[in-house]
Amino acid sequence: MIFWFSGTGNSLWVARQLAASLNDTLVDIARASLDGTTEWTLKPGESVGFVFPTHSWGPPPLVCKYAKEMHLNGYTSTTHTWMVTTCGDDIGLTPEILQKALGDIKLNAAYSVQMPNTYICLPGFDVDDFTTEKTKLIAARARVEKVALSIAERRNVTDVVRGSMAWFKSRIIRPGFVRSAMNDSAFKVDADACSKCGLCAKQCPVGNIAIDADGHPQWQGDCTMCLGCLHKCPKTAINYGNITKKKGRYYHKGK
Ligand SMILES: Cc1cc2nc3c(=O)[nH]c(=O)nc-3n(C[C@H](O)[C@H](O)[C@H](O)COP(=O)(O)O)c2cc1C
Repeated sequence: MIFWFSGTGNSLWVARQLAASLNDTLVDIARASLDGTTEWTLKPGESVGFVFPTHSWGPPPLVCKYAKEMHLNGYTSTTHTWMVTTCGDDIGLTPEILQKALGDIKLNAAYSVQMPNTYICLPGFDVDDFTTEKTKLIAARARVEKVALSIAERRNVTDVVRGSMAWFKSRIIRPGFVRSAMNDSAFKVDADACSKCGLCAKQCPVGNIAIDADGHPQWQGDCTMCLGCLHKCPKTAINYGNITKKKGRYYHKGK
């Protein structure tokens, strides 16, 4: 059983590749959270996986919340449990943070997969240039095949890119980021550019976007900061303050 979360499609693509390789089933964490479904039953010998993006050197808070709330019937100390996190660069102490949220469910393996970057809301952060994006997407294919093999062999490994100053990033920067930068108050729509297609609301994994009487998005204050709305808008009409106006856009096309 593979539990996944994704904002802009990188992690969903990885989850789908792994599900196909491992002949496993997928569970959408955001959907399950919205539905209030936390109880799952494992088949004998079934393994459990988590696939999600790294958000500020840790799992998205929604993933931690779900990991804390979920209950796995049939889980035993022999259940192979793994995580794969996609990232633009590095993941810091993401496995340790997920492990804490999982409590008695013990992570046996952790992997990271570098993919095109989606974080663009602070100075100095932008999407990758075209060549880097293509290079990362090609490398990700081979990387996911290798990860799938390792999971199939039930290896107990931590095969991740932690990056420099992992502790500082995950334990000092991350809490401040989660507190102050993971909110939707700065999202805005350019009403002239917006085609009122409603894609932003439809694709929002947590149902945080309502469409107002004029057909424009209104953020409802319960955002995970996945940036799916901003990156997928076909008219580039969504921005985070003014800082993203001159930044690029990216989402995984699913192939
Ligand atoms: C709010 C936010 C925070 C991010 N933080 C990190 C990070 O700490 N390290 C990193 O390498 N990439 C970071 N990224 C980039 C994403 O982890 C990366 O692009 C990921 O593959 C996106 O996955 P998704 O398309 O499934 O949402 C961040 C992206 C967002 C939106």
